[in-house]
Amino acid sequence: MAPLFTRVRLIFGALVIFALVFAAAPVGAQQPSSVNPTANSVKEEQLLRALGQVQGRGSIPDTKSYTIVHPAGRDWRHFHEVTLRWIGAVAILGMVVLLVVFYLARGMVKIESGRSGRTIVRFNGIERFVHWMTATCFIVLAITGLNITFGKVLLLPLMSPQAFSDWSEWAKYAHNYLSFPFTLGVVLIFFMWIAGNIPNRVDWQWLKRGGGIVGHDHPPAYKFNAGQKAIYWLQVLAGTAMVITGYVLIFPFYGTDVSNMEAAQVVHGVIAMLFTAIMIAHIYIGTIGMEGAFEAMGSGEVDVNWAKEHHSLWLEEELARERKAPAPTGAAATPAE
Ligand code: HEM
Repeated sequence: MAPLFTRVRLIFGALVIFALVFAAAPVGAQQPSSVNPTANSVKEEQLLRALGQVQGRGSIPDTKSYTIVHPAGRDWRHFHEVTLRWIGAVAILGMVVLLVVFYLARGMVKIESGRSGRTIVRFNGIERFVHWMTATCFIVLAITGLNITFGKVLLLPLMSPQAFSDWSEWAKYAHNYLSFPFTLGVVLIFFMWIAGNIPNRVDWQWLKRGGGIVGHDHPPAYKFNAGQKAIYWLQVLAGTAMVITGYVLIFPFYGTDVSNMEAAQVVHGVIAMLFTAIMIAHIYIGTIGMEGAFEAMGSGEVDVNWAKEHHSLWLEEELARERKAPAPTGAAATPAE
């Protein structure tokens, strides 16, 4: 009885194995063609060409998600992965190279008549606070924004994926939250300095004479010369564009569709690169580019000879106001310590 039972079990087992091998054989034979990626992608490409986009059906309320591929999305991805990186690299590195060459050729713009030893108030505490708050936010926004564009290609190869993802997460928080004081700064700067930044005929003369930076001339200027007015309007207009497009990106699909989001990102990215490049030039002139300039935003007081050389009309206005004032208030020229 026992050998018979063993034989039946053996035969049954063999049959099962045979059935399994038989059933598996067609699957194995079909394997190569069922995962042929080229065949599938050709179909997808054909669908895309025929229909304009590849769309499926879904059961969730967000109908946007039913669109799987649309050509504009591919253009956007190319812009983000290639074009924006080129724009950023050319604008920012180009500006740095330009400034290095300019510095080597021209050197620091000195106070030609030397320091007088007397200073005059140029920016009060509130103005300096607003400037530095906005500037600090801008620098952090620029660095954390550039991480979104370049981090994957420049930083990821230098650090572990975990470290890169931790840094990027914090960078993203900083980018989102510092947008609020930055927005406040753009608004305050607009109101605080608008009066001195309306273009006038003096600006044209200033520009024609090279602004005292290219050559060694000292064309007259009021509180803000044409170069500073350009920076002011850049900050106000480009800053506003960054704020609007930035909030469209932070709050996706509030009255916007996918195309609006793509457009907002393109505008945000391109302006960011140009804005950053120009701000590097602004930082250059305010530091190593011009003797005595940093003090205006540092201590808030500049040397009277610096004011005479770079903002002679403003100095005259200030001195006239001081002469008219009944008693010295400490707001005008005072001996430097
Ligand atoms: C109110 C101000 C701002 C807000 C609300 C804002 C918001 C945003 C958001 C939500 C993103 C997309 C992030 C993502 O894809 O995860 C972004 C990207 C970016 N931001 Fe801003 N941002 C602001 C200002 C700035 C400023 C001042 C700069 C620099 C000058 C800047 C530079 C960038 C850059 C370079 C990107 C990456 C673009 C890309 O590669 O797609 N942002 N910003």
